[in-house]
Amino acid sequence: MSTLTQLNDLGMPDEQIAAVRLPLEQASVLPPQAYSDPAIFKLERERIFARSWMPVCHVSQIPEPGNYFARNLVGEPVMAMHGRDGVIRVMSNVCRHRNTTLASGSGSCKGNRLSCPYHGWTYGLDGKLLAAPFMDQVENFERRDIQLPVFRSEIWHGFVFVNFDEQAPSLTAQIEGLEPDVAPYRFEDMEVVELRRRVMPWNWKISLENFSEAYHQPWVHPDTADHEFPAAMAEYADVSGPYGVFHLNQKNSLAVPTFFTPVQGLPQKLLSTVTVFNVYPYLHALTDASTPLWLDFNIKSEVEHELIWNVLLPKGTLKSDTLETELAKFRAFIEPILGEDISVCTGVGEAVHSRFVTPGRYSHMEKTVHQFHNWWLDQMLPPASR
Ligand code: FES
Ligand SMILES: [Fe+2]
Repeated sequence: MSTLTQLNDLGMPDEQIAAVRLPLEQASVLPPQAYSDPAIFKLERERIFARSWMPVCHVSQIPEPGNYFARNLVGEPVMAMHGRDGVIRVMSNVCRHRNTTLASGSGSCKGNRLSCPYHGWTYGLDGKLLAAPFMDQVENFERRDIQLPVFRSEIWHGFVFVNFDEQAPSLTAQIEGLEPDVAPYRFEDMEVVELRRRVMPWNWKISLENFSEAYHQPWVHPDTADHEFPAAMAEYADVSGPYGVFHLNQKNSLAVPTFFTPVQGLPQKLLSTVTVFNVYPYLHALTDASTPLWLDFNIKSEVEHELIWNVLLPKGTLKSDTLETELAKFRAFIEPILGEDISVCTGVGEAVHSRFVTPGRYSHMEKTVHQFHNWWLDQMLPPASR
């Protein structure tokens, strides 16, 4: 088989793929079909979403035994379950009888059992089948052998991740390089509240890439971000691994005003900066000294994803009397910025379907986008072509 045939596995011209692989100063961006072609999305499901570490929820969303958080991860129904033994497991959310979803949204299992809404099969919090009504006449049916699949999971700074690939390397080891930038914020001690969600009719990578660079700030956020955190002062890290990170620095190195008390013990430098990071494929967060914003994705197709804006708050805030007032202030601050981002992403979502698009070039301020594109090709290309 020729190299040409292997590369065309993605249906992209070889020279355009090779151009992404060049050093940043010489490289071009991913071809437009990466954002529009259903065949590419099908391959992403096989080569990225079936093998990568994906966030399911934050531990604060399932704080007690019996709490669950169910969602659909790019077509795969899963639930994170807080077991009676205190262990958080990520399991299939598909009944072993005739395949309906067992749980929806989030909540708490009554009596530490999860009952299927269809024919009443009942599972324990560890996924073992405990009861199957009216199955006593069935031959060769052993209830004790039936168990919901439990997937590999890891908890990283409070985020519960799942991977459907038994062979995948550990997440924590792969993103060890993020520790100095993320660990000081202690996300694991915080609690999550959802601010809003909205369906975006464009490819998920368009949103992720938008949030991965500050180059657009002077034109998209001149009065909401760039006036305090000039794009030209942003610092992009050189990293290798399934993550990207950069810092938005306050223009005079002053402490950034925060909605809550800054996290205790934060290094001085982090008081005057906003840390922005991704764990690929799609965990995205940015944080000042007190209040991380976590953007979560429900990826549905090559041209649709739901974007969920979550905020992480100091422990105890969810029960506070002033929660709604604080959230209203935070929404008033963040929503205009997100609205500005949505406006430009809408344009990209439309334009990637043009027949006349050719891949453009990267600014040095798009180091993180270049790095993401190369990570994406590392996953998507057959090994011999990488
Ligand atoms: S599908 Fe769950 S009990 Fe029938
Ligand atoms: Fe933006």
